Amino acid sequence: MSTHIGARPGEIAPLVLMPGDPLRAKWIAETFLEDARLYTEVRGMLGYTGTWQGHPVSVQGSGMGQPSLAIYVTELFSEYDVQSVIRVGSCGGMSPQVAVRDVVIASGACTDSSMNRIAFEGLDYAPVADFGLLRAAANAAGVTTGSTNGRAHVGLIYSSDSFYPARPELAARMVDYGVLAVEMEASALYTIAAKHGRRALTICTVSDHVDRGGDVRGRAGAHLRVHGRDRAGRGDRR
Ligand code: ADE
Repeated sequence: MSTHIGARPGEIAPLVLMPGDPLRAKWIAETFLEDARLYTEVRGMLGYTGTWQGHPVSVQGSGMGQPSLAIYVTELFSEYDVQSVIRVGSCGGMSPQVAVRDVVIASGACTDSSMNRIAFEGLDYAPVADFGLLRAAANAAGVTTGSTNGRAHVGLIYSSDSFYPARPELAARMVDYGVLAVEMEASALYTIAAKHGRRALTICTVSDHVDRGGDVRGRAGAHLRVHGRDRAGRGDRR
């Protein structure tokens, strides 16, 4: 076993789905996989391997935030020879283009995290998804021309270190540069996958919307507020 994953060599599939919540890993395994078997429960961070339509697939929880995810993906790549990790999580919509229950397929990830700033000593690395996985997911979601079909969107995500940021208005300017939504893990996932020459993608369902009041384009003076309404006015936050 590795330091944080209690699996023996060969127990984890080359393709891993990675939700933040370990109980979502359990739900995905029990709902979608055949013959799913628990291979780790160290710290309650559940991991399962089973098959989907005959293909071996694992599901591993990552916990919340880049430092937690970084532990699990580093060990998956370096100690279990995992080839592809697809984060399947939730995000907060930031752009007016996205609504609660839409899906964001993250082509690249901006961040306020210091992880890459330290690793690259001030140079700005641009963490991006594996193009093959990105193309396959976009096709499967029906995004075949342009970057959206109205409910599934391909574009930038913002990986924040804070669920409750001290200066929420700072994140608002990201929308003016094409960022669709905020979550807390994709940037580290893409960077660590690149370091190990492996493939990574992030697919998130919009669970809430960080909406800027007043002008929807959110120019000067806009503030952030959080609500959880979808296009039909249903739902609540998270
Ligand atoms: N994940 C889901 N919603 C989020 C939000 N509003 N901020 C950060 N991560 C999230």
